[in-house]
Amino acid sequence: PSSPSVVRASSSFSTAVAEPEGIKVTSVPTRPIEGQKTGTSGLRKKVKVFMQENYLANWIQALFNSLPPEDFKNGLLVLGGDGRYFNREAAQIIIKIAAGNGVGKILVGREGIMSTPAVSAVIRKRKANGGFIMSASHNPGGPEYDWGVKFNYNSGQPAPESITNKIYGNTLSISEIKMAEIPDVDLCCLGVTAYGNFSVEVIDPVSDYLELMENVFDFQLIRGLLCRSDFRFIFDAMHAVTGAYAKPIFVDGLGANPDSIANGVPLEDFGHGHPDPNLTYAKDLVDVMYAKNGPDFGAASDGDGDRNMILGRSFFVTPSDSVAIIAANSQAAIPYFKNGPKGLARSMPTSGALDRVSEKLNLPFFEVPTGWKFFGNLMDAGTLSICGEESFGTGSDHIREKDGIWAILAWLSILAYRNKDKKVGEKLVSVSDIVKEHWATYGRNFFSRYDYEECESEGANKMIEYLRDLVSRSKAGEKYGSYILQFADDFEYTDPVDGSIVTKQGIRFVFTDGSRIIFRLSGTGSAGATVRIYVEQFEPDVSKHNMDAQTALKPLIDLALSISKLKEFTGREKPTVIT
Ligand code: G6P
Ligand code: ZN
Repeated sequence: PSSPSVVRASSSFSTAVAEPEGIKVTSVPTRPIEGQKTGTSGLRKKVKVFMQENYLANWIQALFNSLPPEDFKNGLLVLGGDGRYFNREAAQIIIKIAAGNGVGKILVGREGIMSTPAVSAVIRKRKANGGFIMSASHNPGGPEYDWGVKFNYNSGQPAPESITNKIYGNTLSISEIKMAEIPDVDLCCLGVTAYGNFSVEVIDPVSDYLELMENVFDFQLIRGLLCRSDFRFIFDAMHAVTGAYAKPIFVDGLGANPDSIANGVPLEDFGHGHPDPNLTYAKDLVDVMYAKNGPDFGAASDGDGDRNMILGRSFFVTPSDSVAIIAANSQAAIPYFKNGPKGLARSMPTSGALDRVSEKLNLPFFEVPTGWKFFGNLMDAGTLSICGEESFGTGSDHIREKDGIWAILAWLSILAYRNKDKKVGEKLVSVSDIVKEHWATYGRNFFSRYDYEECESEGANKMIEYLRDLVSRSKAGEKYGSYILQFADDFEYTDPVDGSIVTKQGIRFVFTDGSRIIFRLSGTGSAGATVRIYVEQFEPDVSKHNMDAQTALKPLIDLALSISKLKEFTGREKPTVIT
């Protein structure tokens, strides 16, 4: 029992085994269930919906019905999750259906835990055919809240729409589920359990990922910063999956004080929290960072570890600025980019701060729709290294997902690099110094997003239809208050690698001074509709850079509300979240 790898033979479960080398597979009859179309990022519903008979099983079987057999027969799949309620039961269902469909082996994180970026890393390192992530990301967890499942493909990237559309099609015609008759797998201890030709290996969810981080970053450099007596660091894991990663990486790997990890134990309901690292939902961290003499650097990550929020003392770094600043400093501070990044990209609603860095560094630049899956092809083609989204996602081609801990290590690297020769007592270059210097060099892109969560779908859809109609009638040169329209459209994207086209990705009003207003419906909610309004305005004048974003953007926000008649359509007076 003290051995780290326990090998159990299938014969100990002989009742389930039809023949010595095989496993018994039962065909469970089922019927199609409505509404199993995946959104921006996998299938997400209330836990109660997933717990209905065959709801999850149908979708998993539909997935196997959609993949070419050579992509999974006798193949290797990875299974991880963010630790939320229902993951334990779901893991057993997924394992049994995978076995029933002829998968050879599943690598599963201990206790079913593995962050989204770690799943992507493990798929790549172990050359797996793909992997499942049991998570509804930043949505709350627990019996009354959300559950979700995502499937990533063999380079670790979220499944493309061509696959998710097929899965949806198959959910509408499904009639049987192939279930292997094997007992529940004990996910608590590391080791391999074999059932005939099928096996499950429980792996440490951290080690492959940590090894990758050690290759990407200069751990010695970061350690030098985190061990300083005049630098205080705090990481808030929000009782979500990065709780499992924080101690091995920040404390054991980089020398941070154990007290610097807040909410570091993953819980099934995230401690009643909403594990979304933004100014609203990571309020405890924000309060600490804005208190008098707060820490020098604060960061948080979301449910499944792919999002991040970066804060300095009394200072918030918008995600749009964060990716631009990481890109601008990457070659100097991060060994992985020692030859410079190959190219940069952002999602359409993300501010243009990154565009300015790509111009200055003379790098290829791409604007893609919302959704990390659109970056993968560009990375595989070798034209993209660093990318980000306004929705607190930042990452690079080290994997094919956004990566919360990566972003935090990138910021720590930049701070460590800038302060490496500073003696104790000398004033350190702070997060806000770095951001303000960046604005002075490139100009500031003021940016804000207003979210109206859980609106009635009908009103929200009508508003979007109304805006589409407005766009179709719009003309360049039209006046909108003091702004002059350059163009308005509904964003469409042609993937430069495979030529695939996606339409209706967000309504844009772009004005002649570069200001933008964008309207979208979220694709990640689990109930009703969430309206997102994004506003952006470029300011080259340094003397105006210290303005509060909400003040600077007030005229554009008012304009957005009046253009869209949001109040009329949704009945909402105020947004539920402002970032
Ligand atoms: C997830 C996706 C991101 C996306 C974000 C917001 O985190 O991985 O790519 O930007 O959700 O999407 P939404 O459709 O809700 O605006
Ligand atoms: Zn997430």
